[in-house]
Amino acid sequence: MKILGIESSCDETACAIVENGTHVLSNVVNSQIDLHAQYGGVIPEMAARSHIEAITPVIKQALAEAKMDWSDIDAIAVTDGPGLSGSLLIGTLAARTLAITQNKPLYGINHILGHFYANFLTSPNLTLPILALTVSGGHSQLALFKNDQIIILGQTGDDAVGEAFDKIAKIIGLPYPGGPAIDKASLDGDSGRFKFPHPKLKNPYDFSFSGLKTAVLRQAQKLIGKDYTFPSAEIAPLLNKQDQLDLAASFQKTAIDILVEKTKLASQNYNINKVALGGGVAANSLLRKNMQAEFETVFMPEIKFCTDNAAMIASFGYFWSQNHQPSDPLTLTIKPTGTEYCQK
Ligand code: KG4
Ligand code: ZN
Repeated sequence: MKILGIESSCDETACAIVENGTHVLSNVVNSQIDLHAQYGGVIPEMAARSHIEAITPVIKQALAEAKMDWSDIDAIAVTDGPGLSGSLLIGTLAARTLAITQNKPLYGINHILGHFYANFLTSPNLTLPILALTVSGGHSQLALFKNDQIIILGQTGDDAVGEAFDKIAKIIGLPYPGGPAIDKASLDGDSGRFKFPHPKLKNPYDFSFSGLKTAVLRQAQKLIGKDYTFPSAEIAPLLNKQDQLDLAASFQKTAIDILVEKTKLASQNYNINKVALGGGVAANSLLRKNMQAEFETVFMPEIKFCTDNAAMIASFGYFWSQNHQPSDPLTLTIKPTGTEYCQK
């Protein structure tokens, strides 16, 4: 079964064709990173406008790269949430229109859960149950994927972990997106120089990174001899290089320790020693290294399938289609908050 996936929830316009949920026939990603980098973050209106320009060429390219036309496609899967409303609208409207005009079944797909399915593209023989840690710019989530059920154990309470990487990078003067920049800078920094706190939460599987972000901000203000009222946007030029690198490394170590600790706790309590990573932050070198050191079996998508892409959406679409009815292309709506996750 060949599924054409469409992804447009944030700042990537993407289309991919995947066979039977595992075999990637084409994978096209048009990133808007350069567009947003000059503002240090995603501007929603600009993202939506860019999706409008890119969506048709990206879909055409995905078909061309797979050397296919619409007669070869069995179904369409599209991200319908969570994400930016304007961005989600472009992908879902394109998918709905194509489902009607090309007469194909349509599946609305949850983006966060979709990140987990990126693992099937790299490890087609992966079996459930498995514990999945999905960490991205918009979300942090621990979920238990069973054969007949997806149980969300915990999720983001405030800033997602990727968002914390991006915001800290901005404060200490590293480029956008902050994740890869902090990952690289940390190699030359002392991760033991600053000790930042781990949050205590009622649900131990939930995530909160805004406290860590504030702790790093306070430390940066202290290093330049200013108090807490000093504007975060004016810190970077006053910070010396070694302080910048040590802040990056100490922050990264704390954030990754928190992620590994929570996954370990869930693994012990649910008696599952098999873990999968997903989402943009799953590209982080320290997270990948520490997870492998901690768990017997760790699945990790290839880096290109960690960040937003449509192949993971097509893969989830395939598995979802095995025991679900298609969505109605006339009424499929966007779910920007994504709280209505796909419960099997
Ligand atoms: O999954 P993704 O492409 O988009 C969302 O669904 O949010 O994730 C993007 C996030 C950004 O916050 C980016 O800084 C982070 O993933 N990221 C990383 C790394 N590469 C990307 N964070 C830490 N280390 C990395 N190497
Ligand atoms: Zn994502």
